[in-house]
Amino acid sequence: MLNVFEQPEQLRDALKAVRQQGLKLGFVPTMGNLHQGHIALVKEAQRHCDRVVVSIFVNPLQFNNSSDLDSYPRTLEQDLQALTEAGADFAFVPSAAVLYPNGLAEQTKVKVPGLSDILEGELRPGHFEGVATVVCKLFNLVQPDLAVFGEKDFQQLALIRKMTKDLLLPIEIRGLATVRETDGLAMSSRNNRLSPEQREKAPILAQQMHQLAEQLKLNNITQLVEQTKQQLEQHGFICDGIDVVDAASLTPLSAQSRHAVILMAAFLGEVRLIDNCVVSVN
Ligand code: PAJ
Repeated sequence: MLNVFEQPEQLRDALKAVRQQGLKLGFVPTMGNLHQGHIALVKEAQRHCDRVVVSIFVNPLQFNNSSDLDSYPRTLEQDLQALTEAGADFAFVPSAAVLYPNGLAEQTKVKVPGLSDILEGELRPGHFEGVATVVCKLFNLVQPDLAVFGEKDFQQLALIRKMTKDLLLPIEIRGLATVRETDGLAMSSRNNRLSPEQREKAPILAQQMHQLAEQLKLNNITQLVEQTKQQLEQHGFICDGIDVVDAASLTPLSAQSRHAVILMAAFLGEVRLIDNCVVSVN
């Protein structure tokens, strides 16, 4: 049965009982509007743990645009139903007042040097600080043995790994491969906002990414990226960044790089889609 808590104290008491029984606790943080990608993270946590906590919290600190925050889909009842069906044990659904009692401006923040401000972080100032801060707070509340994140948000996963290591948090971080629709489109809460025509075009992003991955040679990346960009724009996408960087450090590729990651971000109308894939380069 799914136990749902809004208050940290209730959650702490329930989790204390789990720990006293010597059970292993897994954690999946989300912003709700759950789809099969999120459920795959829950299943992965269940594979490794005895009990699983899922948090649902649309974190205002990571939105740099208030209309984006307001329009974020909130579907709590359906989400709790999906978690019940998936067999999750605990759902933590705090309000902003519970997580930020002194307001956002007064909140102590977690900044992960090198990762908060590059790539996606450069395009969305403050976003990764908001992510690291809320995940750190949630880690402190839940104190899981293991937490699962999607590789879909590649930079976010790298950031969480570094934060956990730097702050000596005794939590194992697991990444899970992106779950896709049958036509290759990465599952995302944003896909529901695509018009039928846009939805039909959307898988082209993943197709172009895989084509780029196949052609990737260290010496003509700029040209290949430019071609990919042109292809996407011909199909009606507006590219917001195609980056090919070292998969371990997210810094420019060097002769030492063993794996590259292709990070794609493009708009179809108002909807910003992201995707990524790792390619071995040496
Ligand atoms: P949200 O976008 O709800 O995503 C929650 C988790 O689901 C993240 O780890 C994300 O990478 C993963 N996920 C999303 N789509 C996926 C897919 N198609 N396949 C596999 N995993 C997928 O990411 C956040 O929320 C927030 O930033 C959060 C970490 C909860 C902090 O607020």
